[in-house]
Amino acid sequence: MRLEAQDPRSKHIERVLKMSAPTSTILWCRSRSELARVAADHVAALLVRKPDAVIALPTGQTPLGLYAELVARAAAKRLSVAQARFFNLDDYLGVSAEHPLSYARFLREHLLRPAGVAEEHIRLLRGDAAGIEEECQDYEAAIEAAGGLDLAILGLGTNGHIGFNEPGSDWSAQTHVVSLSPETRATHVAQTQGQFVIPEHGITVGVSTILAARDVLLLVAGRGKARALDAFRAGIPDPRWPVTALLTHRSLTVLADAELQPAAVADSGGLASR
Ligand code: GLP
Repeated sequence: MRLEAQDPRSKHIERVLKMSAPTSTILWCRSRSELARVAADHVAALLVRKPDAVIALPTGQTPLGLYAELVARAAAKRLSVAQARFFNLDDYLGVSAEHPLSYARFLREHLLRPAGVAEEHIRLLRGDAAGIEEECQDYEAAIEAAGGLDLAILGLGTNGHIGFNEPGSDWSAQTHVVSLSPETRATHVAQTQGQFVIPEHGITVGVSTILAARDVLLLVAGRGKARALDAFRAGIPDPRWPVTALLTHRSLTVLADAELQPAAVADSGGLASR
């Protein structure tokens, strides 16, 4: 999606200038529902262009509004996901697809089942696969066989992770097993109200898998994301903040909740360069 200066939403756009081209754009959304709508528009536009698009999905609170919007549009026959193919970004290691912690289960409940996506169009990471290395390779092969990702939709961890690619991760990696950082585990303990023991490891598509997607949509909401978003806005790729790997991507859209918008940017009318 390209938003130009004459776009009515342009006063909410911040361009993040970088050391090198291309320039990234942050579209500040006035509410979570606006963020959900704009994100759904982005996905819908792709599905019009390419009905059998290959899409990677995130888990977490942030994409819930997007998923509700897509389900509502599918129910109203304003959007068809009948031919689209879906992958996910990550899951906990050793957790089965039926477990309440499972990201696969989350995506089935919140999007795939209610939107009526056919089973043959779904390939989700198997966190409890017996041969986990094979699972990683098989997953990459499945993405490749589908023609590669047309769109990777991402959330953002408080420590800047994308998928489960934690600070210091290897940006050339494809799908692999990761150690979850204490910060990530603590966040997830809080989110699940301490109901579950959060695994020490996860399985995630790699940064290189994400960067190979033809288009990337990053969704940022929640006050805990301010530091990670600031690192992105600084415009310098920094391995301590995996989200900054996206600065090198040629087709990246960032939708961020305006509650995270620094006052200086908001006061300038939104179109700020720094
Ligand atoms: C988890 C997932 C990420 C997700 C992040 C943000 O850590 N591994 O893929 O982006 O949560 O979650 P939320 O949207 O709930 O803040």
